[in-house]
Amino acid sequence: MADTDTLELRLRAVRWEADGILSMELAAPDNRVLPAWEVGAHVDLHLPNGIVRSYSLVNQPGDNRRYLVAVALDRQSRGGSRFVHQSLRPGQMIKVGLPRNHFPLVESGGEVVLIAGGIGVTPLYAMATALELAGRPYRFIYATRSRAHAAFTDTIANFGDKAAFHFDDEHGGKPLDIAGVIAAAGPGAHFYCCGPAGMLTAFEQATAHLAPEHVHIERFTAKPVDESAPSSGFKIVLARSGKELTVPADKSILDVLIDHDIQVPYSCQDGICGSCETKVLAGQPDHRDSVLTAAEQAANKTMMVCISRCKGDSLTLDL
Ligand code: FES
Repeated sequence: MADTDTLELRLRAVRWEADGILSMELAAPDNRVLPAWEVGAHVDLHLPNGIVRSYSLVNQPGDNRRYLVAVALDRQSRGGSRFVHQSLRPGQMIKVGLPRNHFPLVESGGEVVLIAGGIGVTPLYAMATALELAGRPYRFIYATRSRAHAAFTDTIANFGDKAAFHFDDEHGGKPLDIAGVIAAAGPGAHFYCCGPAGMLTAFEQATAHLAPEHVHIERFTAKPVDESAPSSGFKIVLARSGKELTVPADKSILDVLIDHDIQVPYSCQDGICGSCETKVLAGQPDHRDSVLTAAEQAANKTMMVCISRCKGDSLTLDL
């Protein structure tokens, strides 16, 4: 262990999965059992170039001596996926955060519908595998630009008629009909979606009439932020030390905490990974993250300090 929140793991194997997608197998040098995780969980990779990136685990349940992630090369990469693809080599040691899960598979007796787009397949592939092993009813629909860009196709094909592919280029460039997939599901189904922004928007529109607890989304990119929302300054009180700090309009709470050497875990700084989730003891956060559900945001028990702000003058945080 590197510290209480991270592990020092060896990159044991790198495998080509599809055009632009590599999977990475990380294991302890002594091959011991790794901290437990559940499908939908992700880990932070602290890359040797100083960048931290979150990736969903794609292991099967019970596969507990390694973490398996898959990384798509992003043409707009700010140094994360490009470094992974071009510079990581088997044998290297990598600091890896403990698994966290903001996209759990809800226990329900009913049908589960999994809709994946592009590299959004990773958490849903893990869920489909878990549902298959558990004998639970599910449908898994995986959309990509083309067959060449689809990962894990051999395993997914073994799921039989519970799984379906949609390759845009084989449908004249048309994307998956998400509304049709939702409409075809039985009553009481739970829907999960992870994919590019356009897919998530279509998913949100197609599920808007459903009970929110039946609709589950994971984002790899931040939700569009309302640029017109005012960003005024406010005060934060750190309950454990009693310190009071000012967060100016042009800085995040996380920036101010870092400026004052206050340790808070963080990764994406975009409100999508959940690393910086912090308990709120008083005050009303202005939630701008893409991690918490609407119900969790309304409860105001925690907030993502990298992006969320304050609706009033002051917040008291459990720091
Ligand atoms: S650092 Fe990722 S949500 Fe805040």
